[in-house]
Amino acid sequence: MKTVLVTGVAGYIGSVLARQLLDNGYKVLGVDALFFGGDAIIGMYNHPNFSFRKGDVRDAALMQDAIKDSDAIVHLAAIVGDPACRQQPELARSINGDGSKQLFDLARKAGNIERFIFASTCSNYGKMEGDEYITETSALNPISLYAELKVEFEKHLMANPGGKDGMVATPLRFSTVYGLSPRVRFDLTVNEFTRDLSLGRTLKIFGEQFWRPYCHVEDLARSCIVVLEADRELVDGDVFGVGDTSENYQKKMLADEMAKIIPDAKIEYVKKDEDPRDYRVDFSKIRDRLGFTITKRVPDGIREIHEILRDGVISDPDSTKFRNSNPEAI
Ligand SMILES: NC(=O)c1ccc[n+]([C@@H]2O[C@H](COP(=O)([O-])OP(=O)(O)OC[C@H]3O[C@@H](n4cnc5c(N)ncnc54)[C@H](O)[C@@H]3O)[C@@H](O)[C@H]2O)c1
Repeated sequence: MKTVLVTGVAGYIGSVLARQLLDNGYKVLGVDALFFGGDAIIGMYNHPNFSFRKGDVRDAALMQDAIKDSDAIVHLAAIVGDPACRQQPELARSINGDGSKQLFDLARKAGNIERFIFASTCSNYGKMEGDEYITETSALNPISLYAELKVEFEKHLMANPGGKDGMVATPLRFSTVYGLSPRVRFDLTVNEFTRDLSLGRTLKIFGEQFWRPYCHVEDLARSCIVVLEADRELVDGDVFGVGDTSENYQKKMLADEMAKIIPDAKIEYVKKDEDPRDYRVDFSKIRDRLGFTITKRVPDGIREIHEILRDGVISDPDSTKFRNSNPEAI
């Protein structure tokens, strides 16, 4: 039985991925500094194949020890999102930049890690030129520290492929995520808009015409397992976008979907002609080469967020624990 080291295991994506790995017969060794608490992993503690070490991925001794006991790594731990990185630039450089490189280099030297998967982002593309769909070969145009650090670390991985016997390195450029997870986030567009409309607020939408690709958290997490299990020559030192070409939406399209599901949704549009991120992405590569397809679409995510709020399961959806940055300081 293979052991997968998941960094950021208590996070929005990590807590979903860890459960999927356990369900697929893997052992999971989770590492997390628990910046947002550990509630998301409570439900796995009684699973015989789950273990956890609380700590910082920058702690070389801790990570060397965890690497020793693992066969593969999915590296998710990071300061996540443009606002959070803008608020804590030094910490972001230290974790997302230096800390990630140190982890990768330790894993490569250790010799026992077969796969290293890294959570990158479609934010690396910035803004599209004209109407062309973006692919993995399009130019990168990071316009935030968050994306700059992702691009930098992607390059480090792609410059160090495993070759015939070494550690296979694969960055994945995730779409913007949505949907329910044991660690809910309400600072992601679909989840945040749905929350506000479900609570009867008037949703003000800026830049309704700008495009972005979206992917459900369960599908994103599953893409890591697809890559983990792919033949090494199909994924070594190569980058894949994760999502589905039919799931690119303008913000107005998201609002239209919400209005179909949420009764009396109140939506106002505020004119804005500039958005630093505006792109439609073609995800044929991961579908054609690895057979990855999605199981959920944006309306499914809207429905599940709306229902959990309607049913009163989340008592304080405005709590700061559901966001990665301090809204006062953005
Ligand atoms: N959510 C998205 O839309 C999205 C999109 C593209 C890429 N990603 C990437 O996916 C990964 C996971 O994102 P998420 O949405 O689950 O974020 P998250 O903030 O919910 O989870 C990140 C987890 O990492 C932990 N962590 C942060 N720094 C750490 C450190 N130094 N040592 C140990 N643990 C640390 C945090 O405590 C947290 O539990 C990130 O790398 C993110 O950049 C996310």
